[in-house]
Amino acid sequence: MRKYKGTSKLMLQPRSAEEVSQILKYCNSRCLAVVPQGGNTGLVGGSVPAFDEVIVNTSHMNKIISFDKVSGILVCEAGCILETLIAFLDNQGFVMPLDLGAKGSCQIGGNVSTNAGGLRLLRYGSLHGSVLGLEVVLANGTVLDMLGTLRKDNTGYDLKHLFIGSEGSLGIVTKVSILTPPKLSSVNVCFLACSDYASCLKLLLDAKRKLGEILSAFEFLDHDAMDLVLKHLEGVRNPFPSSMHNFYVLIETTGSSESYDREKLDAFLLHSMENGLISDGVVAQDITQASSCWHIREGIPEALMKEGGVYKYDLSIPVETMYDLVEEMRVRLDASAKVVAYGHLGDGNLHLNISTPQYDDNILSQIEPFVYEWTSKHKGSISAEHGLGLMKANKIHYSKSPETVQLMASIKKLLDPNGILNPYKVLPPSLFSKAEI
Ligand code: FAD
Ligand code: MLT
Ligand code: ZN
Repeated sequence: MRKYKGTSKLMLQPRSAEEVSQILKYCNSRCLAVVPQGGNTGLVGGSVPAFDEVIVNTSHMNKIISFDKVSGILVCEAGCILETLIAFLDNQGFVMPLDLGAKGSCQIGGNVSTNAGGLRLLRYGSLHGSVLGLEVVLANGTVLDMLGTLRKDNTGYDLKHLFIGSEGSLGIVTKVSILTPPKLSSVNVCFLACSDYASCLKLLLDAKRKLGEILSAFEFLDHDAMDLVLKHLEGVRNPFPSSMHNFYVLIETTGSSESYDREKLDAFLLHSMENGLISDGVVAQDITQASSCWHIREGIPEALMKEGGVYKYDLSIPVETMYDLVEEMRVRLDASAKVVAYGHLGDGNLHLNISTPQYDDNILSQIEPFVYEWTSKHKGSISAEHGLGLMKANKIHYSKSPETVQLMASIKKLLDPNGILNPYKVLPPSLFSKAEI
């Protein structure tokens, strides 16, 4: 992103939980700060050493430990690359319940630690649902074995949830057990154009009702996002070269019967056209066309990075008002700043990006705190899926009450009394004494 610059004199690449334990025991006894790092694809600076932290990178812990074809439960080390797991499961006739544009580099430990959402949360739910167990090393070196492989287990507090989404601030995840659904044979992808945001919304409501159980993704992008992809990504073709559209929606269905699914999709598309919700559309005829549609959506972050500086905001906002923020932002900023919107509309997750030729404090002051205040006022979340990291540690109060933040700080102090794990991230550093950070 050319936004976060790390400084560290030391990166360690342990090969086992035991080695992670020894590292943390040593660092804790000497109050040396540590930054856990997976694939380093995070977008809020969480994996970057802010000052001089020791980097503990999990890339060498990349073994698949077991896979049970009956239950679909995969157990693997934290450093496994998401794409490797996707390919492994595909060979076994299963799918990973998580997919995202950074799959080629991000690691499952990083995914769990950020509670990554991605492109199919709509269908498979969040990692709080599909992760069944974790092995985690605490700041003092204790190896916590919570690596359960059971669907149901109500024996006491379910502590693994503390580590899902805690961005390396409470422990280092070393192993993950995850429930994976069977791969279904029938997948359809369509790419649709809409003239206004209201039509995208109506389309979403209709898709939920009419496609129901086969709906597996509902993504949207606006014309500025499309323009950037067409400008920067090689080999991308505009599905609608002859006309301009304001919004685009990518819908995917996944089911077990080709004829039944196609019939449902065709009926849905016909109904949407008759109601004037779609101004144009293509249904992918094969896997290559389906990948091209996904390439447009997944390529937006890369296109933005190529354009220049980018201020990224990852927000949960009630869908009815979501695009109002984008329009208000366009009015606030002058024309040299491009306001680009896309995201997981099916999950109420807007990715609001402001693209500028280069980073500029003047522009930042026009965006923040406005964007956080707006989101808070509309009962949204200032981090839908990317986490708080370095970028938003001081902004947590826009989405969480003071009492909740205090309890989080108490939990942090209990698990990491010397504050060695990912200091300056997630929670406001002002909540901790100097010795603790
Ligand atoms: P890193 O970036 O290395 O680390 C992220 C955070 O987790 C840091 O705070 C780090 O300290 C901590 N961490 C990493 N590994 C561990 C561990 N083993 N134990 C404890 N803490 C750890 N995110 C989404 O949610 N949805 C998306 O659709 C999505 N798409 C993306 C597309 C692109 C092109 C890019 C560049 C990023 C995208 N992201 C998305 C953001 C990012 O990829 C995810 O947050 C991902 O889960 C991070 O994984 P990582 O291994 O790269 O973690
Ligand atoms: C996405 O959905 O593409 C990712 O979360 C990355 C981004 O927001 O740029
Ligand atoms: Zn996203």
